[in-house]
Amino acid sequence: MCVKARGSTVISRASASECFVYITLPGEVSPVTAGRFVLTINTRGDALGQFVYRTKYLEDPHAVAIDPVELKLSKRTYETGLLNGVFGALRDAGPDYWGRRVIEKHAGKPQLGELDYLLESPDDRAGALGFGLYAEPPAPQRKFNSTIDLEKLQALADALVKDDLPDDRQARQVQDLMLLGTSMGGARPKTVVQDNDSLWVAKFNRADDRWNNTRVEHSMLRLARECGITTAESRMQTVGGKDVLLVKRFDREKTTKGYTRARMVSGLTILRADEAPETRQNWSYVILVEELRRIVGDAKRDAAELFRRVCFNALVSNIDDHPRNHAIIAKEKEWKLSPAYDLTPSVPVSVERRDLALECGDQGRYANPNNILSQHARFLLVRDEAKKIISDMKAQVEATWYETLRASGVSPKDAETIRGAFVYPGFSL
Ligand SMILES: Nc1ncnc2c1ncn2[C@@H]1O[C@H](COP(=O)(O)OP(=O)(O)O)[C@@H](O)[C@H]1O
Ligand SMILES: [Mg+2]
Repeated sequence: MCVKARGSTVISRASASECFVYITLPGEVSPVTAGRFVLTINTRGDALGQFVYRTKYLEDPHAVAIDPVELKLSKRTYETGLLNGVFGALRDAGPDYWGRRVIEKHAGKPQLGELDYLLESPDDRAGALGFGLYAEPPAPQRKFNSTIDLEKLQALADALVKDDLPDDRQARQVQDLMLLGTSMGGARPKTVVQDNDSLWVAKFNRADDRWNNTRVEHSMLRLARECGITTAESRMQTVGGKDVLLVKRFDREKTTKGYTRARMVSGLTILRADEAPETRQNWSYVILVEELRRIVGDAKRDAAELFRRVCFNALVSNIDDHPRNHAIIAKEKEWKLSPAYDLTPSVPVSVERRDLALECGDQGRYANPNNILSQHARFLLVRDEAKKIISDMKAQVEATWYETLRASGVSPKDAETIRGAFVYPGFSL
């Protein structure tokens, strides 16, 4: 079987799977077909992904690229062997560790193919893409759990973490609830819920967490805002005595017709990196900012914003700042850095040296002002401006981290447990 692309390009394959890629265009609430994706695994197990835009889509004056770097609007057949053959922009629209577990449980299979995860996950996925087996997209289902279901969803998440989901029919119906909301990435237990006017990522605590993660994350978003960073909006909701963090989806906007969707691409995709250790040489803020400057509409604004986020991550020991915890979004044609999300402090044993997940200067990943300053020009900042950002933010975090945590309802005990995350001693060396 073969797939005929525009012109004479033909993708032939021995054993493959394929799907159509749909996109909801800026300002619209229903998808159109953007192209076709074919995934081939050869006998050695090597994956090859191929993508072609549909002719009709390319002719649409409103058409936008799925990925501003790797999948520009063009007639050509794109190919990739990275990320198990799934283009980064497509992989970004699929579930990650947590969502994959929910889907596997639901399907009753331990592991599924890359394409199954895309096809099995519901349409609450990050960004503007959708996937299906038909040339024309189905109407959007607009089926979401509501904030009033949170208690049930928290109980399901707890059971899944402990791996003791019951396996009877009634339990399957309950699992259907959980399946709605699994497309979002990340490893922590979460789902997607809606209230009257918004969609939210709902993040749950785990019984084995060392502190109240959801409240602490809520307070970190607040602290980041106080440091001049643009963040996702969040609120806490307590259900059945448990704290749930609700982070407002910045890639959805409710209109009278339904939800509009912004395109979204992760830092991992922008860096054309993988999670495999051998591709981590691209895990770098310096490379990220260079790429960002080429893509976004306002390079100066977004480069300085990324610089502030690097400083903030260093100041709160957020060493989980990996490339999937950065993204760009496009509500219209133009791309910009997304609001910050998933900001989490950590308390590693070392107080002398902490490393961010991405290189941030001449001394690699070292979370230290001299290192961060060393590449200030790449962030389009003169040295004095960059120095001032670091010293002002250091003063702000030092002076307010405790009261910000407490004002967000973090207990004194938890605040003490994570005290060592803030302006760690090595930061001032
Ligand atoms: N407010 C938001 N709006 C849209 N997408 C989001 C938002 N917050 C997170 N995401 C997406 O969901 C993914 C998982 O969320 P994240 O908070 O990073 O969870 P985890 O703690 O499990 O890593 C992110 O990588 C990002 O793609
Ligand atoms: Mg994350």
